[in-house]
Amino acid sequence: MATSLGLFPPRPRGLKGRASELETLAAAIETSAPTRLALVGAGGSGKSMLAAALAYRVAPRFDERMSWFRVGAWDFRTLAEMLAVRFGTTRDRHRIIDGLRAFLSEDERLVVLDNHEDDAAMAQLLDALSETKATFLITARRCLLAGVLVFPVTAPLVTSGRAAFPRVAPLTRRLRWNPLALDIAAAIVASGATNVNALARFLDEHGIGAVRVIEHEDDLPEVALLVEWAWRRLPPESRRMLAVLAHVEGDNVDRESLAILARAPRAKAQKAIAALERWHLVQEAMRDRYTLHAVVRYAVQKRTEPVPPARLFEHYVGLLERHPERIVSEQTHLFAAMDQAQRSSEVDAILRVEELLTRLAEDS
Ligand SMILES: Nc1ncnc2c1ncn2[C@@H]1O[C@H](COP(=O)(O)OP(=O)(O)OP(=O)(O)O)[C@@H](O)[C@H]1O
Ligand SMILES: [Mg+2]
Repeated sequence: MATSLGLFPPRPRGLKGRASELETLAAAIETSAPTRLALVGAGGSGKSMLAAALAYRVAPRFDERMSWFRVGAWDFRTLAEMLAVRFGTTRDRHRIIDGLRAFLSEDERLVVLDNHEDDAAMAQLLDALSETKATFLITARRCLLAGVLVFPVTAPLVTSGRAAFPRVAPLTRRLRWNPLALDIAAAIVASGATNVNALARFLDEHGIGAVRVIEHEDDLPEVALLVEWAWRRLPPESRRMLAVLAHVEGDNVDRESLAILARAPRAKAQKAIAALERWHLVQEAMRDRYTLHAVVRYAVQKRTEPVPPARLFEHYVGLLERHPERIVSEQTHLFAAMDQAQRSSEVDAILRVEELLTRLAEDS
């Protein structure tokens, strides 16, 4: 379907300290669309949330023709394929770009390319789709692209030294203004499970202030400690759901798949998800579809066993064999299954994925 806000993140609630950024960015789009903007900043600084808030702010201009793709490090072909599946344009290799260009030339449209990682693939894509009516909004930790307006994103209010999260204001310095950590801390305190002083004590006792080299951008002690605090207080089904979300390779997981993969009985699944939502440990990437922020994901990965890849493969390939119409929402799981089949070199698995892809290509 062309207009698919169902596959768009819900309107962010509780956006803090971004009034001036939103003003500037909305004006940039209003005055120069179609255009290309990139929100660039460190992991967890709030780029994706800002991109979602901005999209809703300018939604009337695009008559809600807005699409969200989590692009990661996919190559050019896969990116083109993702767009074609979503927009319902041809996936024939030789006509895929012409099909996309024709579609994007019809009406003004906002295309959010979240979590960009591969500059060469992105350059090729943006170039192939240039001079259409599409405005591209990219989020990236780094972005070495010419022809794109780069807008730096830092933690809310960090440059003015004020606290963006009043409920946990005394934790601002301890959590180094990191909005991901502050948001989880604020949710924990709001739930009444503890208070700011007790949480501060917990963080101090567990060495929040210690200097150490981190492994990479997703290795944030602030968030790992909050996950640690929550872990012992979460029901086992919620913990298993976190483990699934931390290890699954596809983008986001619907409620039912999450319950099945986490072996949560139907009666307990609802509550298990609610417990994770209450402390903002999961993100609702799209309506009723869940994911973990990369930093939470890394913290959970460190304390859990991976879900066996064969189980994930069977779940998603089986699901798509029964429900081929779900390709639009489950496509990244199919890509992950394809990778898994190739890694395992199991002929039967490769054939199943190929048959699925052929069938899907014939349908388009
Ligand atoms: N302005 C804000 N107000 C309230 N919460 C925020 C804000 N910015 C970020 N957050 C919280 O931090 C989390 C992480 O933000 P977000 O996903 O936007 O980071 P990011 O910069 O896109 O990270 P990554 O580089 O890993 O993709 C959000 O889910 C939200 O909970
Ligand atoms: Mg992001």
